[in-house]
Amino acid sequence: MIQDGSLSGERFRPRFIDLFCGAGLLSHAFKSVGLRPALAIDLDKKAIQSYRNNVAKCAEVADVRAVRTDISADVIVAGPPCQGFSTLGRRDPQDVRNELGLSVLEWTSALNPKIVVIENVPGFLQSHWFDEISQGLKFQGYETQVFVLDAIDYGAAQKRGRAFTIGSRVGRVDMPTPRKSRPRTFKDVVLNRPIKADDPMHVWPTPSALAMERFQAIPERGGKRDLILNRPDLCPQSWHGLIGEATDVWGRIDADEPSNTVRCSFLNPSKGRYIHPFENRVLSLREGARLQGIPDSWVLAGEPTPIARQIGNGVPIPLGRAIAKEVMKALTREHMAETSYSAAA
Ligand SMILES: C[S@@+](CC[C@H](N)C(=O)[O-])C[C@H]1O[C@@H](n2cnc3c(N)ncnc32)[C@H](O)[C@@H]1O
Repeated sequence: MIQDGSLSGERFRPRFIDLFCGAGLLSHAFKSVGLRPALAIDLDKKAIQSYRNNVAKCAEVADVRAVRTDISADVIVAGPPCQGFSTLGRRDPQDVRNELGLSVLEWTSALNPKIVVIENVPGFLQSHWFDEISQGLKFQGYETQVFVLDAIDYGAAQKRGRAFTIGSRVGRVDMPTPRKSRPRTFKDVVLNRPIKADDPMHVWPTPSALAMERFQAIPERGGKRDLILNRPDLCPQSWHGLIGEATDVWGRIDADEPSNTVRCSFLNPSKGRYIHPFENRVLSLREGARLQGIPDSWVLAGEPTPIARQIGNGVPIPLGRAIAKEVMKALTREHMAETSYSAAA
């Protein structure tokens, strides 16, 4: 067998469609293990521009609810919006975005891919939408599996739990093996790899005078609690009763640890532990991108807030790649069996 999984030397390059593609982090992961993007769709024009600039030209602004039948693919990947299921969001079962995931079933029914991968937050698994989707996949003849994985176990310098619901017509897709080495840290992916001074994404919001005073009052690894204790005069009355509560907002990142989940709002210090370990500012867009495993060659389209959304919405690339490798293995196994069968016939 030739190393790329072919018998003939012709490279085996299955095609995939990415529904809800965003800026294309999950697509990049699949492309990096040898799959070819055939179509990627998202409603967000800037995310599509980013995808076209950095991943492939096949991305289109479109609504996933309009199923296409003029295309074929071996794999469908989909990362429907997760706000309705996220413990960080409002977790609203009535959120209309929750039902968007059901469109994936219409695509699988129309296009009959060999494998489908649906990525979401772990909270999705407790929803009736998950029950409907997994029942629907079984009904369509897919063997289904669910993996709940943390990005820190697969090479990202970020704690981020994600649920992957996988349907396969080509046998089991194995769970990716977690790395044995220690998790990567902020220092590993940001401080030890200096960012070019002219990097257009090494930008962050200029803090207001009040925000700057607050940053100065927060020590290394500290957070809102230190702020309330050190400078009560900078805090609204409503915070004073919260000293005992563990809270990560207005928190400095610990340089020797992986970061917390990089959310779409990581440019706002009141939304999480997003303050630089030593500097008096939040993360830059590039630093947020590094925590997601995005290559420095990528420049994302739009203003800073929409760019932060494209970054925070994505699947950490090392985690996506770990899943993509297993999907590629299952496809290659089936391809080899098919090829040897036709060779023998
Ligand atoms: C969680 S993000 C996907 C991130 C992507 N998988 C990645 O790794 O970069 C969800 C995306 O769904 C898109 N979206 C929401 N509703 C949509 C719809 N009806 N049709 C197409 N895209 C939609 C949003 O614009 C957002 O980019």
